[in-house]
Amino acid sequence: MRCFVNVPLLDLHAHHAAIKKDMVCAIEAVLEKGDFILGGEVKKLEDRIAEYSQTRFGIGVSSGTDALLVSLMALGIGQGDEVITTPLSFFATAGVISRVGAIPVFVDVDPVTYNLDPHNIAKAVTSKTRAIIPVHLYGQCADMAPILVVAREYGLAVIEDAAQAIGAEYRDGCRAGSMGNLGCLSFFPSKNLGAVGDGGMVVTNDENLADRVRLLRTHGGRPKYYHKVIGGNFRLDTIQASVLNVKLAYLDQWTALRQQHAEQYERLFSESGLIEKTGLRLPVAVYRESNVKHFHIYNQFVIGLPNREALRAFMKDKGIGTEVYYPVPFHLQECYQSLGYSEGDFPEAEQASRDLLAIPAYPELTFQQQEYVVNSIREFYLSKNSIRSEK
Ligand SMILES: Cc1ncc(COP(=O)(O)O)c(C=O)c1O
Repeated sequence: MRCFVNVPLLDLHAHHAAIKKDMVCAIEAVLEKGDFILGGEVKKLEDRIAEYSQTRFGIGVSSGTDALLVSLMALGIGQGDEVITTPLSFFATAGVISRVGAIPVFVDVDPVTYNLDPHNIAKAVTSKTRAIIPVHLYGQCADMAPILVVAREYGLAVIEDAAQAIGAEYRDGCRAGSMGNLGCLSFFPSKNLGAVGDGGMVVTNDENLADRVRLLRTHGGRPKYYHKVIGGNFRLDTIQASVLNVKLAYLDQWTALRQQHAEQYERLFSESGLIEKTGLRLPVAVYRESNVKHFHIYNQFVIGLPNREALRAFMKDKGIGTEVYYPVPFHLQECYQSLGYSEGDFPEAEQASRDLLAIPAYPELTFQQQEYVVNSIREFYLSKNSIRSEK
């Protein structure tokens, strides 16, 4: 009999089941109070997330995208400026640079962690470079120490795109978002701390930047209707903040479960023989120059393997959800043709976009489901004779 187990990439129903009543109560309390715009729950969340991220200030904003956009605006980055970033991320990372009129300048990623390779940054710096946006991809901090050295050397600002990495730690425990000038978090529902809609936050230790972001968040008006600068409506909804305040209490335990799943996958994949037989690559939470293991929060558990598209189709038939983050690196996106890049410019990012695959790692995943995922991947490669033929 053909085996079929439903294993979605993310199961928000299961995720919310135990706390749904508290979430509804929190929403009802806001409805009762009526402080829908920048209400008490927003301020409470800002303080809690700032503390959680080891920063002095948190400014709730409408999304992770707007966190990045308003950070660039706060730094005064605009027309003619250049901003260095990775070609492998969610589109918002690059899109916001263009939206403020600046030019995204891409540098290739590290082939093991898929995060910005610090060794490539200095070569890309010109007299127009103003900032670097490292992304903490999949929940693992970029190699921040050498990135900050380059930034200091050339006088560049650093905006951490920590959308996927709330609570992730670099080396000796510095939390994502606390190392650069500004850190940007996303509360998109699939993130480790997800809202029931859009939301985001800028975190920073810089009082002036915090003030600037707060000003820009409400159209640059201070006092109301007296506009010092042109900002936008970048506010976080009180209702979203109220839900996030409920969920934040569980974040550490959810992250611990994701980390346990990562360990289980490592064991199951090692035992499966797939690593030797197919060259399957697992996440590595260590950078080349140091042996320190980082605190990876596994927003995604991403593996690298050959024949990805056929495997994805096979897994879909087996009821297993997967996703490709991301199939087209920025320099090859249609909208960036005018930047003049071509295929081969960033071989590591291109390779990653061809063979990386995210598999389910959400907190409520069971051991049986994990076994089924690994066995299904093994079955796929066996059916392709890629293992059997080498035995
Ligand atoms: C790396 C990265 N940057 C930025 C964003 C944008 O966040 P949001 O979807 O909240 O606008 C995301 C969200 O998917 C992301 O993963």
